[in-house]
Amino acid sequence: MSNKTFYLETFGCQMNAHDSEKVVGTLLEKGYSQVAEPEDAELVLYNTCSIRDKAEQKVFNRLQQFKRAGKGKIFGVLGCVAQQEGEKIFDRAPHVSLVCGSASYTRFGEMLVQLEAGSRRVTGLSLDTDETFDTPFTRRDNPHRAYITIIEGCDKKCAYCVVPFTRGPERSRTGESVMAEARRLADQGYTEIQLLGQNVNSFRDPSPAAWDFATLLARVSEIPGMRRVRYTTSHPRDFVKAIMDAMDANPVLCDHVHLPVQSGSSRVLAAMDRLYTRDEYMRRIEWIKGAKRKYSITTDIIVGFPGETERDFEETLALLDEIQYDSLFSFKYSPRPNTAALAMEDQIPEEEKQRRLVIVQEKQRAIQIRRNAELIGTTEEVMVEGRHQALGQWIGRTSSNRTLNFTHPDTGGASLVGQYLPVRVTRSGPNSLVGESVGAP
Ligand code: 5AD
Ligand code: SF4
Repeated sequence: MSNKTFYLETFGCQMNAHDSEKVVGTLLEKGYSQVAEPEDAELVLYNTCSIRDKAEQKVFNRLQQFKRAGKGKIFGVLGCVAQQEGEKIFDRAPHVSLVCGSASYTRFGEMLVQLEAGSRRVTGLSLDTDETFDTPFTRRDNPHRAYITIIEGCDKKCAYCVVPFTRGPERSRTGESVMAEARRLADQGYTEIQLLGQNVNSFRDPSPAAWDFATLLARVSEIPGMRRVRYTTSHPRDFVKAIMDAMDANPVLCDHVHLPVQSGSSRVLAAMDRLYTRDEYMRRIEWIKGAKRKYSITTDIIVGFPGETERDFEETLALLDEIQYDSLFSFKYSPRPNTAALAMEDQIPEEEKQRRLVIVQEKQRAIQIRRNAELIGTTEEVMVEGRHQALGQWIGRTSSNRTLNFTHPDTGGASLVGQYLPVRVTRSGPNSLVGESVGAP
């Protein structure tokens, strides 16, 4: 390759976003520079997601568009669709030269060398790795908040989910390597850390120290300079009481638990192979609600899983009434390759899935309007994330993970981004709050 430029586009979850930061770090270390448009790049990379909604078709459409960016380029598909479709991608999109899943990024540097040497069918598709991708070159997008992957892959087998097939078996990093990375980030001035894993709370230190997730949380939150520690995503089965105890013991651990329930019906949960019942899930919610601090609770819901009856669906609605989530992501069940649910009978028609989705979203919207309105008049600490020029507001985030935009006296052009400020809530909407800063940090 002559001018060593790359363009990278990323879809999907935070794991993918952070994987891209590691891939970018590796590329920069190898002498590449990043450009903002595919037209300007010699190497065009696409980090893909295959969680739902005909993801593969969208990837192929985008790859076709990329082709128009000009001749002589090298195209690479990374991430979950790469892992899932494998070498078939070379047949459907012959202009692609690299197909690489996330479990193979440890070899990304080697693959670059192969591409540079002229190879036009380079693959990284092995899933039987026990390695984690721990690059010291990670190029982080945000100077204040950093992701750290603590566990990769997934050993659960939820009947709807493609992740075990796209990210491979569960592998935890050692507690010490996570601590070393967190300390280094604190030294560099990062004040917020988000620990990542598909099942973040299944973390189990493979070294003799054998820390569990609660121990890791406690240790990371004690690092000097650390103001906020978050984690995502937790599996309810592995959400043990010790996690809540660790959170209660140190307010650096943010006031937020994301605990995907997927369905309020124990019958559907069993069909999904979620490994908990509605009652067992509710016990976790009681721990959170009974804790010393007030925590924001959020979730994920799937509607229209095969065999979900009207009665099952009503149990999900009743669960939303009972728990009063602060926010949720809701999805129509989407059949995915390789998964157990694909062959299940009694698939729900698209119109019915759509109807249920709208009902869930309307109910939740009403709950959020009410819950957010209750915050008017309270003061919350925000981390300043940006500036909304047109509205004359700063963008803030609370420990409970709410967006709280606020006005602030003229700073004379100085940026507040990265600061922690107290803000009084003056207005609320379904998805965000508005306020005014009160006093110095
Ligand atoms: N169909 C619909 N939603 C899905 N999710 C995962 N797989 C599917 C699927 N096949 C949702 C789950 C999960 C979130 C990340 O995506 O709710 O928690
Ligand atoms: Fe998408 Fe799941 Fe892969 Fe994340 S792990 S990129 S959500 S398919």
